[in-house]
Amino acid sequence: MPAVVTLQPPGRPVRVLVLLAHPDRGHSRVNAHLQHHLSRRFAEPTAALEVVLRDLYSLYPDFAIDVEAEQQALARADLIVWQHPLQWYSMPALMKLWLDEVLTHGWAYGHGGHALAGKDLWLVLSTGGSEAAYQPQGYNRHFFDAFLSPYEQTAALCGLRFLPPLVLHGAHAIDTTALEAHAEVYAQRLASWPDWPEIADLPDCPACDTPAQDRPSARGSQP
Ligand SMILES: Cc1cc2nc3c(=O)[nH]c(=O)nc-3n(C[C@H](O)[C@H](O)[C@H](O)COP(=O)(O)O)c2cc1C
Repeated sequence: MPAVVTLQPPGRPVRVLVLLAHPDRGHSRVNAHLQHHLSRRFAEPTAALEVVLRDLYSLYPDFAIDVEAEQQALARADLIVWQHPLQWYSMPALMKLWLDEVLTHGWAYGHGGHALAGKDLWLVLSTGGSEAAYQPQGYNRHFFDAFLSPYEQTAALCGLRFLPPLVLHGAHAIDTTALEAHAEVYAQRLASWPDWPEIADLPDCPACDTPAQDRPSARGSQP
């Protein structure tokens, strides 16, 4: 599959950008299936949306991210999706580097940095741990939400509305039928955005500015 796939059915498209980050795509079952499902689902000409899939590990096997291309893709999108397997309670390394390099001060956040303000961010994650493992009594010792704070605050800093994530727990135990059902939920959610019932209940994203002294003046790209 090519690294960038644009699926553009007729009609006024809602623009969705899916950033997929899987460091071992050849051995992926869940995220690979989701990727294929989106490709098939939105190839049909009835959906009134444009879905751009950017497979970061295919685009940047050398980790040399094209910041301008990434920012252009972001600027064009209405809904931004970060899809990845959870690794060490966080995102894969290239996804983190993508944040470091693409979400620059003065563009994505901070003084004058409003390029993403008003867009939506949606996490689509898979975990090896089961839902029971993400409980105070489980081996991960916390509810899953506790691991989402850095994502949520990253969104807030950039003026992105943080949508309730879609999480598949127990990725290695899921059977094919349940995986296919999950993939269809994912596709239906994309197809129906922004008409999600829970969006009406979400608070507006508060304005979030970063004081100048909180970052190095010379480079100025860190929060
Ligand atoms: C290096 C590494 C770190 C991982 N860390 C976690 C973790 O912190 N929590 C968790 O539940 N699963 C963890 N996993 C399991 C992955 O989340 C799981 O293998 C993945 O979601 C399965 O999706 P896939 O079939 O697309 O690879 C980790 C896997 C790897 C390889």
